[in-house]
Amino acid sequence: MKDIFEAPFIVRMRKVTQNMYRLGWDERNGGNISCILDEDEIKEYLDLNNVIRTIPMGFEAKDLIGKIFIVTGTGKYFQNVGFDPEDNLGIIRIAKDGTTAELLWGFKDGGKFTSELPAHLMTHSVRLKKDPRHHVVMHCHPSYTLAMNYCVELDEKIFTHKLWETCTECMVVFPDGVGVLPWMLCGTNEIGEATAKKMEEFRLVIWGLHGIYGTGNDMDEAFGLIETVEKAAQLYMISAHLPRINTITDDQLREIAKGFNVKYREDFLN
Ligand code: 13P
Ligand code: ZN
Repeated sequence: MKDIFEAPFIVRMRKVTQNMYRLGWDERNGGNISCILDEDEIKEYLDLNNVIRTIPMGFEAKDLIGKIFIVTGTGKYFQNVGFDPEDNLGIIRIAKDGTTAELLWGFKDGGKFTSELPAHLMTHSVRLKKDPRHHVVMHCHPSYTLAMNYCVELDEKIFTHKLWETCTECMVVFPDGVGVLPWMLCGTNEIGEATAKKMEEFRLVIWGLHGIYGTGNDMDEAFGLIETVEKAAQLYMISAHLPRINTITDDQLREIAKGFNVKYREDFLN
């Protein structure tokens, strides 16, 4: 067996959690990530017949039976993933009953997967149906995006439009817009189900007054979506109290969509 600490999927998780922590998106234990691991990718590093323990999930993930995920632990600090991945991360496989996770590696202090596993797994299910290349679900609390939640209506047309008109690249990066949920209690199956429903239309979903979810075929894509929203939100928040002299107009947004040949939410323009 090869050394798992050298595995690209561990290196990637260490890097991305450090980046997110340094960007201020993941204070304390804020945020969580899950990523589908393809069997070919891990069999050189792990004995897949060795189940360390089983952990009940409290919901059913029938579509994901047999799938393997690397996932951050509940209560774990992103800033610690880099130097102790085996404590702060786990590799789980969804058992045949669809309601239990089989721990294959990690959570070495007896810990378990993020409390947001319902939102992650339900989202994986939906996004995989949209695109079989889908792999990553990322949740975090980026400051400017969150600040915008307090001064812009929690409405997906209004919120998306404000982001699009603030930064030229937004229309290119997320032409499908940003889904928005009202404030809901986190860590529940209900918020998981609501998130997954939004993920049928969007790759980005804001949890009102809490944070954001981004998805993608790889870590860069999920990260890049959130990063682009956060950049626009930052520009919005540092300029919102000043007189607005210039803006990207709806006609210019249409021109961007045409120029970059992207299919966008036309109903989000005026
Ligand atoms: P976990 O520590 O359980 O991952 O929760 C963090 C969080 O951001 C809750 O929404
Ligand atoms: Zn959160």
